Amino acid sequence: MSLRDVLDGAVVMAPMTKGGNLPYRRLCAELGARVLMSEMTVARRLKQKRRAEFALIRRAPDEPFFGVQLAGTNPEEMGWAAALVESRGADLVDLNVGCPIDYFTRKGLGAALGRQPKRIQKIVEAMKRSVTRVPVSVKIRLGWNDSSRNYLEQAQAAVDGGADALVVHGRTRDARYRQNCDWDAIGEVATRMPVPVVGNGDILFPHDIEAARARSGCAGVMAGRGALIKPWLFREATAGYQDISANDRLAIYRRYVDLAREHWGEDEHGMARVKEFLRWHLGFWCRYAPRRPDGSWPGMQTRESLDVARSPLDVLLSRGDQAAHGWLTERLAARDDVDPAEAPAPDAPDVDREEAVEG
Ligand SMILES: Cc1cc2nc3c(=O)[nH]c(=O)nc-3n(C[C@H](O)[C@H](O)[C@H](O)COP(=O)(O)O)c2cc1C
Repeated sequence: MSLRDVLDGAVVMAPMTKGGNLPYRRLCAELGARVLMSEMTVARRLKQKRRAEFALIRRAPDEPFFGVQLAGTNPEEMGWAAALVESRGADLVDLNVGCPIDYFTRKGLGAALGRQPKRIQKIVEAMKRSVTRVPVSVKIRLGWNDSSRNYLEQAQAAVDGGADALVVHGRTRDARYRQNCDWDAIGEVATRMPVPVVGNGDILFPHDIEAARARSGCAGVMAGRGALIKPWLFREATAGYQDISANDRLAIYRRYVDLAREHWGEDEHGMARVKEFLRWHLGFWCRYAPRRPDGSWPGMQTRESLDVARSPLDVLLSRGDQAAHGWLTERLAARDDVDPAEAPAPDAPDVDREEAVEG
């Protein structure tokens, strides 16, 4: 199957540090995701043989199509890393030109590369020379800030280097998540570039997918926070919107626990990891809100207050405080019953996971 066939109409699970952990990707695949991406993997750390980095490029047994995202600035090193991930079973290798974090951009990685289109071209050339089978994609933002929206230059450099596809996150580096995704800009890239373009930003409901594709003409879309808030988004993409009950949501979270326990193990060390990740995911799961009673839709960029929450379990699952997340983590990790009547009183808000995004 050609890459265009894979991406056409696809809802790709975005590369997400922490969020794209192997058991969570398996969960999303079970819920219908056909194309999934690894967490950002730093080529230099692979070269240093760091075990934690090698864990990021591991493919899940039942993963239908697995792309590995690499970050780096040195063409030779990136070529070497691309060949490595290909040999480890990746179906696609992606270059990160979007990571906004100062720690990385100061070293020239991620979004900082977007300011050096010539370097993007050189890195892609090196990656293309090193792989024998898998396609190479590049994930860009619109630019560094509003006064340097150079997405067409970045896209052209990637294509000149031989990129087989582009992913465009429709915001600048400085905007982080403060602005709405600009689907018209993504559309410009899709119209002008000869390779398939995957548009990315603010996809939360099936109608968002249709609107984004109609507006931009891109081949596929990519969901980041949407996949973290509601992993059943992938099922909705084909089956249509589902007003899923709190019990059904709980069953999905319990499935994640099963997959996480299988992955990290059930000894003390493994269970500590299971709980760490579970608690992290609860920070996104609690943001789920259904279609409003008046028929309008919650957006990704607004935080809904669930005053229409329908059952005590709905109320509990929408809580964003530390006491609720701590309690739910323990109950779910231990596969215990979750009785809202037993839940502790609300206390201070838990960490806002979006504010702490690293990708
Ligand atoms: C928790 C988290 C981690 C992320 N890590 C990465 C990453 O490793 N690589 C990357 O290219 N983008 C990363 N991103 C950005 C997403 O891939 C995506 O571009 C962004 O969230 C916009 O899509 P959305 O509006 O659907 O969330 C991350 C986003 C989140 C929320």
